[in-house]
Amino acid sequence: MSDIIKAPDHILEAGPFIYADILDFKNLQEIVVNYRVDWIIHFSALLSAIGEQNVPLAMRVNIEGLHNILELANQYKLKLFVPSTIGAFGPDSPRDPTPDLTIQRPRTIYGVAKVHAELLGEYYNQRFGLDFRSLRFPGVISSDTNPGGGTTDYAVAIFHEALKTGRYQCYLEPDTMLPMMYITDCLRSISEYMELPAEKLKMRTYNIHAMSFTPRILAEIVKRFVPEFEMTYKPDSRQKIADTWPMRFDDSRARADWGWHHEYDVERLCQVMFDALWPQYRPGKQRTKPVSKQ
Ligand SMILES: NC(=O)c1ccc[n+]([C@@H]2O[C@H](COP(=O)([O-])OP(=O)(O)OC[C@H]3O[C@@H](n4cnc5c(N)ncnc54)[C@H](O)[C@@H]3O)[C@@H](O)[C@H]2O)c1
Repeated sequence: MSDIIKAPDHILEAGPFIYADILDFKNLQEIVVNYRVDWIIHFSALLSAIGEQNVPLAMRVNIEGLHNILELANQYKLKLFVPSTIGAFGPDSPRDPTPDLTIQRPRTIYGVAKVHAELLGEYYNQRFGLDFRSLRFPGVISSDTNPGGGTTDYAVAIFHEALKTGRYQCYLEPDTMLPMMYITDCLRSISEYMELPAEKLKMRTYNIHAMSFTPRILAEIVKRFVPEFEMTYKPDSRQKIADTWPMRFDDSRARADWGWHHEYDVERLCQVMFDALWPQYRPGKQRTKPVSKQ
């Protein structure tokens, strides 16, 4: 693993961790040679909301950085994974559901850079035989990282705030439907997809889906675990982004071509998030049993 920021202890304990700046091509070459790298999982990016706050930096990291990674992978014949996103679609795309192949005219620098990455990766695949693979992820939810400045961050923050303060002010309107996925499904999708023999792949960029919900739906389920929980709504600039994004992903091609399936729906997601976060915020306090659905 690598980053330009320091890793927390649990990452350092899990395996090698080094500094790597994707804008420094020579540094990347050294790492590939010194560590005999054969695959790259290229996660570095500025996410949607953060990208809008610093467009020049997002252009550098998300576009120039991707150029470096593609060139590196091509030069050393590495297998390359680049995640894409629901943010690669825009207001002209069909939103419910959004198919793999359709109009993509995103309105954020993040989305524009992701469409650029998809197209360039597919071009390198056809032109040079680079083993480029991409999956378009919904909002990814996890208990061990802090939200990274994306438009779907509320679906992580809500769990922390419910346990910490019993309330959360949501920056999206209550009925904003977006696709989401639990981190375990997300990571499993990457390893299964990367292990596939190339002949199985009919495309190089697939949508994958797990669940779709609105802030109102999520808040209702959170309330079953934390009965005193209250959600208020104060939409900000992220609402405008969410309004142009898919509400549901059509991932039928991933399911048909290589057997993609999700294991976490919204109920199971809430269960695992509270299992993980309860001891952190309410140590020693008996966990309330979730009230069942009426
Ligand atoms: N989080 C989601 O919901 C989601 C959904 C779809 C796709 N994705 C994609 O998954 C990837 C990871 O997302 P995340 O949520 O972990 O984002 P994140 O913001 O948590 O992580 C991005 C990392 O990139 C690093 N970075 C920034 N500039 C760099 C540079 N010059 N060199 C090297 N590293 C640099 C940052 O330090 C940060 O740790 C991104 O490509 C994102 O587009 C995320």
